[in-house]
Amino acid sequence: MIRFEHVTKRYADGTTAVDDLSFEVAEGELVTLVGPSGCGKTTTMKMVNRLVEPTSGRILLGGEDIAAADPVQLRRRIGYVIQQVGLFPHKTVLENTATVPQLVGTPKAAARARAAELLELVGLDPSVYGGRYPAQLSGGQRQRVGVARALAADPPVLLMDEPFGAVDPVVRERLQNEFLALQKTVRKTILLVTHDLDEAVRLGDRIAVYGAGTIEQFDRPAAVLGAPANAYVASFVGADRSLKRLAVTPVRAADLEPAAGGPAPAATVPLGSSLREALAALLRQDAGRIGVADPESGRLAGVLTPQGVHRALRRAEAAETAETAESGQAGEAGGAADAGVRGGS
Ligand SMILES: Nc1ncnc2c1ncn2[C@@H]1O[C@H](COP(=O)(O)OP(=O)(O)O)[C@@H](O)[C@H]1O
Ligand SMILES: [Mg+2]
Repeated sequence: MIRFEHVTKRYADGTTAVDDLSFEVAEGELVTLVGPSGCGKTTTMKMVNRLVEPTSGRILLGGEDIAAADPVQLRRRIGYVIQQVGLFPHKTVLENTATVPQLVGTPKAAARARAAELLELVGLDPSVYGGRYPAQLSGGQRQRVGVARALAADPPVLLMDEPFGAVDPVVRERLQNEFLALQKTVRKTILLVTHDLDEAVRLGDRIAVYGAGTIEQFDRPAAVLGAPANAYVASFVGADRSLKRLAVTPVRAADLEPAAGGPAPAATVPLGSSLREALAALLRQDAGRIGVADPESGRLAGVLTPQGVHRALRRAEAAETAETAESGQAGEAGGAADAGVRGGS
C-alpha cells in the first residue's frame, strides 16, 4: 500500500535526515516507526503526504508514484494525526471533526452526522462533547478528537506522529487500547511514529527500528524483541526485553491449569489477552491465580498462576528462537534486502 524505494532526504543545510530507505506497509497493516529523537521518523512520515519532498528515490501509494499526484488530492486520501492535535480553537468539537468532509463538498448536515458517528466511535458522546470547544477538553479527549477528525474523510491511509505523546501514561495506555480496538474495525493502513518502544511494541503489526536515517530492523514486535538484528537494536530494545514480551504474548489454553476443584477465581481475563494484562490482573489478587475464560462462551478455560506466566514466556521465547533459525535458513538475502534493512546478521 505504501512503498518506499531508496528514499533519501537531505535538507538544505546538508543534514541527511533519511538515507536510502526502502520498506513497504501492506494494506490494513499498522507499522510503527520507533527510534531516538532526530533519527528521521517525522521526515519519513511527512514525505508520504508531501509536506517534505524526497531528495531522491520514490514513494508509491497503492502502486502510484506520489510525486505525480496533486498534493491536495493526495492529502485527502491520507489522515494525519499529530501530537499537538491542531484543533481549531474557535470551532466546536463537532465542527472540528466535520471540517474535512465539508472541505471535500459533503453537505453540512451529512458531514455533521458523520462527525457525530466518529465521536461516538472514539468514545466521546457527541451530545455531551460535540458542542464544547477544544479548551474545554482534557488532553486525552483532544487527542480522541484528533483521531476522529483524521478518520472523518474515511482515508485509506493514516499517518500518526507521536499521537499519544502529550498525555499522561495512564491515559496513554487507555487511548492505545481504544485505538487498537478501533483499528480492528476500520482496518486502515497506518504509519505511526513514536520514540517509545513499549508503545511501538503494543501497537505495531510490525515495527521499524530506526538508527540514524535508516531502518536497522523491520519485523514483528516479538521477532525484534526475540532476535535483535544487531548490537544497535539489542541496545535499543534493552535488557528488559523479556518483560516487553509480556505485551505481545497471548495467554493460551496450554498455559493454564485445570479449574476443577479449586475455589471460583475472583477475577478472570479472556483467553488471548496479553500476558501483560493477565499478570496485572494476577497482581491485583491475593489468591495468586486468576481465571481465564473462553471469550466466545464465557466458560472458564482454566486458571493462570505465576508459574503459568513463566511457562508462557519461555514458550514464546523458544518459539521465536526456532522461527528465527528457520527463516535464517530459508530467507538468506531475501526478506532483509526487500525491507531495506541494514546491518542484519
Ligand atoms: N526543516 C529541516 N531543516 C533542516 N534539518 C531538519 C529539518 N527537519 C528536520 N531536520 C533534521 O533532520 C533530522 C531528522 O529529523 P526528524 O525527521 O524530525 O527526526 P525525528 O522525528 O526522528 O525526531 C534531524 O537531525 C533534524 O534536526
Ligand atoms: Mg519527530
